[in-house]
Amino acid sequence: PRKIIIDTDPGQDDAVAILLALASPEEIEVLGITTVAGNVPLELTTKNARIVCELAGKPDTRVFAGCDRPLGRDLVTAEHVHGKTGLDGPTLPEPTMPLQDRHAVDFIIDTLREEPEGSVTLCPLGPLTNIATALDRAPDIAPRIKEIVLMGGAYFEVGNITPAAEFNIYVDPEAAKQVFGCGAPITVMPLDVTHKALVTKPRNDAFRALGTPAGVAVAEMTDFFERFDKEKYGSEGAPLHDPCVTAYLIKPELFSGRHINVEIETTSELTLGMTVADWWGVSGRPPNATFMGDLDADGFFALLTDRIGRL
Ligand code: BDR
Ligand code: CA
Repeated sequence: PRKIIIDTDPGQDDAVAILLALASPEEIEVLGITTVAGNVPLELTTKNARIVCELAGKPDTRVFAGCDRPLGRDLVTAEHVHGKTGLDGPTLPEPTMPLQDRHAVDFIIDTLREEPEGSVTLCPLGPLTNIATALDRAPDIAPRIKEIVLMGGAYFEVGNITPAAEFNIYVDPEAAKQVFGCGAPITVMPLDVTHKALVTKPRNDAFRALGTPAGVAVAEMTDFFERFDKEKYGSEGAPLHDPCVTAYLIKPELFSGRHINVEIETTSELTLGMTVADWWGVSGRPPNATFMGDLDADGFFALLTDRIGRL
């Protein structure tokens, strides 16, 4: 199995991404989960990560708390999407599994140094603060990273937190700039892909019909999450952004995209946090990321329902 570190700010869609990874031990070995401030403050994302591990029946998963604010800006959160707790929807028990002592950034650095070179994949599902801090403190880890597969950014779909920017990149654009410039292979799941991963009514029913605690919780989480997108945009269902990252590790053939240059806007007032993706190769700048553009949505939900059903 592929060794990964999930860096996350749960978030209902983060939760589903984690469940999918923990349900897929043949393909994925979760070395640890690192939390970051994003959808809600750090204390809540850390608690939520532990709730999700327990829901998956994997309380021995190691969870490390990370950075509680972006590198050089005030934290912007998204309670308007995820609710006050960040995981509104299901009623889940308070976690009892331990939180690890080590800081998330130290865990990321130590793991990349200890594991064989080119064997560890980083999976950021939130603002990129922890990853950028690790790269800044230990530049030697960059060439040791197998791949960074992240959810963030947009091209045709443009923005969801401002007209120009996607939430994860917008919250910490300086961190994103550092990550996109680090030289490691990067695969990006932007809104262009994740807005095709919509939990329609029949897909939600399929989760509920699993009848298991995880299946029912996923249905309740996506029900909650869906309210926002339906009311606001009249969309068919909630976009499952972050699970695209873990699904890619299991079935990369569900996705297609282009290897292109992607730069991050960090100075403009209007387009701060925009992923300037050179889809047509007009800039002459060297490619630094594989930017996904399409998804087999039925295949994605078939995988997700099957795996959640194994928990
Ligand atoms: C991203 O922002 C968060 O609200 C979601 O968890 C996802 O990671 C989508 O823009
Ligand atoms: Ca997230």
